[in-house]
Amino acid sequence: MVPMPSVLPDGEPVPADGTLPARALDGAGDRPLGFYLHVPYCATRCGYCDFNTYTAAELRGSGGALASRDNYAETLAEEIRLARKVLGDDPRRAETVFVGGGTPTLLPAEDLTRMLGVIRDEFGLADGAEITTEANPESVDPRYLAALREGGFNRVSFGMQSARQHVLRVLDRTHTPGRPEACVAEARAAGFEHVNLDLIYGTPGETDDDWRASLDAAVGAGPDHVSAYALIVEEGTQLARRIRRGEVPMTDDDEHADRYLIAEERLTAAGFGWYEVSNWATTEAGRCRHNELYWRGADWWGAGPGAHSHVGGVRWWNVKHPGAYAQALAEGRSPGAGRELLGEEDRRVERILLELRLADGCPLGLLAPAGLRAAGRAVADGLLAPEPYERGRAVLTLRGRLLADAVVRDLVD
Ligand SMILES: C[S@@+](CC[C@H](N)C(=O)[O-])C[C@H]1O[C@@H](n2cnc3c(N)ncnc32)[C@H](O)[C@@H]1O
Ligand code: SF4
Repeated sequence: MVPMPSVLPDGEPVPADGTLPARALDGAGDRPLGFYLHVPYCATRCGYCDFNTYTAAELRGSGGALASRDNYAETLAEEIRLARKVLGDDPRRAETVFVGGGTPTLLPAEDLTRMLGVIRDEFGLADGAEITTEANPESVDPRYLAALREGGFNRVSFGMQSARQHVLRVLDRTHTPGRPEACVAEARAAGFEHVNLDLIYGTPGETDDDWRASLDAAVGAGPDHVSAYALIVEEGTQLARRIRRGEVPMTDDDEHADRYLIAEERLTAAGFGWYEVSNWATTEAGRCRHNELYWRGADWWGAGPGAHSHVGGVRWWNVKHPGAYAQALAEGRSPGAGRELLGEEDRRVERILLELRLADGCPLGLLAPAGLRAAGRAVADGLLAPEPYERGRAVLTLRGRLLADAVVRDLVD
């Protein structure tokens, strides 16, 4: 999961035909191109989730038939065709496609493979392209997974979150413990080469032992990738209201740090290595190439309501509501709601923010004098590793990973 802000930023308007400034495609041939396809539907809303997603009840009466998930694959295909026009004679094929949500697997498998087919027709898929979909454990079965695999998907990411029933209940998850592990087996049987399990730690009421049990269940299932995220209590969510009312306790930063150390210990012992602060894989091939493309500032087109895109220093985002999104495309307009043109300084800061979280770290050459001084102090404080520093790279130590946000804040000065 790469967070997609549910509140859209301000920005300048996107032209109705979606045209990009000419400079956006300068040097494009040297950058990989990926696609993110957002599916904004969920059967029920988890109380902690702030993503741009809608239940059937939330859509009723707003957006009418246009917002319906029945038409969604065709609506999204329209945006991919628009992408083809906007990118013009850009010869790049897609290196990665990531279908995320919401719950992509609420749609029939044929809809997901149809959306992928439009990318194949319009852009082509690079040899060995990574094609992922997110899936909720309760929403798939062996036939569904086989249809996805046959349709060209080769990676699947299941939202496991926890192995404990009481934790799943606080998160409002509807699957039962054991189902995500069965999903991994079903995905492997269907021929998926790469399987991820998403976990959340720091849920109210979760103990260290619960977290250990979740990690053990996850690695025992045999995925080649695990993402572990600290629960973020987002303002405006049902969970934030429950905490405010005192119905459930809040975990604190110290508990989050302890859980992170437990994750690192358990995952490392099981043969996983971290390659980004919240992501571990068993091999280099198991890493999520799509997320790497975000973290390394490559180009991606995000299609779907509220989706964000980035091409050559131009970042834009779509209107949030599925009805408004479908309406724009039906009228032949770009669904873009706003955009910003990143300057040199924006891009430098963004690179530090993203690359510092990677196991390779970021080059010290990106840092301004104050940031360089902060890096020297971070080495002395045990937050950055000394050996890479000598080679000109800022790489977080384990202690630095616990305090990654604070270290980054100092380094971007
Ligand atoms: C937005 S979901 C989409 C995929 C799918 N619907 C699912 O729930 O697994 C992607 C991941 O984001 C995680 N997520 C959503 N809100 C979060 C939050 N407030 N804190 C931490 N993780 C969150 C989910 O638990 C999930 O693993
Ligand atoms: S199923 Fe996933 S996207 Fe839907 S509400 Fe829950 S966490 Fe959010």
